[in-house]
Amino acid sequence: MAKAVAPKSVRTIADLRADFPTLAGKMSGKPVAYLDTGASAQKPQAVIDAMKDVMESHYANIHRGLYEFSQTTTTEYEAVRAKVAGFIGAGSENEVIFTRNTTEAINLVAHSWGRRVLERGDDVIITEMEHHANIVPWQLVCGMTGAKLKVVPVNDDGTLNIAAFEHMVTEKTKIVSFVHISNSLGTINPAKKIVEICKAKNPNVTVLIDGSQSAVHGPVNVQDLGCDFFAFTGHKLYGPTGVGVLWAKAEILEQMPPYQGGGDMIEQVTFAKTTFKEAPAKFEAGTPAIVEVIGLGAAIDYVQGIGMDVIAAHEKSLFEYAMKELAAIPGLTYYGTGPDKAGIISFRADWGHPSDIGMILDQCGVAVRTGHHCCQPLMQRFGVEATVRASLGLYSDENDIDALVDGLHKARSLLG
Ligand code: ALA
Repeated sequence: MAKAVAPKSVRTIADLRADFPTLAGKMSGKPVAYLDTGASAQKPQAVIDAMKDVMESHYANIHRGLYEFSQTTTTEYEAVRAKVAGFIGAGSENEVIFTRNTTEAINLVAHSWGRRVLERGDDVIITEMEHHANIVPWQLVCGMTGAKLKVVPVNDDGTLNIAAFEHMVTEKTKIVSFVHISNSLGTINPAKKIVEICKAKNPNVTVLIDGSQSAVHGPVNVQDLGCDFFAFTGHKLYGPTGVGVLWAKAEILEQMPPYQGGGDMIEQVTFAKTTFKEAPAKFEAGTPAIVEVIGLGAAIDYVQGIGMDVIAAHEKSLFEYAMKELAAIPGLTYYGTGPDKAGIISFRADWGHPSDIGMILDQCGVAVRTGHHCCQPLMQRFGVEATVRASLGLYSDENDIDALVDGLHKARSLLG
């Protein structure tokens, strides 16, 4: 079972850091300054214990056994569905589908809903700041259906061109899919406003929000956002890899055909015909990531024990500290300088290549991501092939930022 977390008011960042075993270790022989939470978050002991507990005490396959182990594991797995529903403000736990990650959630929508509703002459709208996971599935489905993919441009400060967005939605638009918080720029998009614009221009449009970074950085309520689909992943939310979530409105799930066929999603199979269960089972073919789903439940308990609003406020104030301290490093150009930003800092230096900087930072115990961040079209828009990206998490502190700044001074002295 997940460890109880103390009330949020008594927990300091030092307390929280102590929950994460990896942060107490060393990297390249140095204290760990982990600034790559945007790629994947470290795991608190509560998540590790919850996963260990199910494997050590009552592990079994779910939905298939009358014996106690299977019943207990099934109950724990299904309890996470309700937990996820509460976490994102869903109307019902039956609207929560467990997937492998955000990528699979978007592919599910593209290949089930997209192939059902799209025809030649229709439009799908995405934006220039999408991760490849929210580009390639739509390219594939547009190729299959004859629909056209349209791309909303990004302004120089890394915000979306909302006027262009509004102009692009027409009666031909069937699906809009956009990222809530950009993984490479940290831009927080005005998601609720975008959904309102889309629905006002065309009430038949269905809107998907990629919440990979937003579900992690602050409170989310899918009903308030007004979207039709919302996708996020467990491993960025301090949970395990191998589990993600697709939330969709019940009336849409009813109309969606299965994405994959197999065990546990059927009512009856004959060689002539198969009938399917209702959602969510209809979309969870085969043995799912049982232990990982239970780990995700522990992760949600953990972050809710702290408070998503508390996490958002901490990351915002640390982001401001980081920008102030980084001003001491000459020659940096930032990508994503709009007013509404999450704790993601993307930059280049005029004195060194991102990969060389990343390697020197590693020698200083500082973990950042360097490269295109799975956003090659966005990099092309800014005329670069890569940036250095530092991303904050609930456990990040000023020491991490100081280590980054010291590491950049060292990199400049070696490369500049
Ligand atoms: N999408 C992840 C990132 O932004 C892997 O790094």
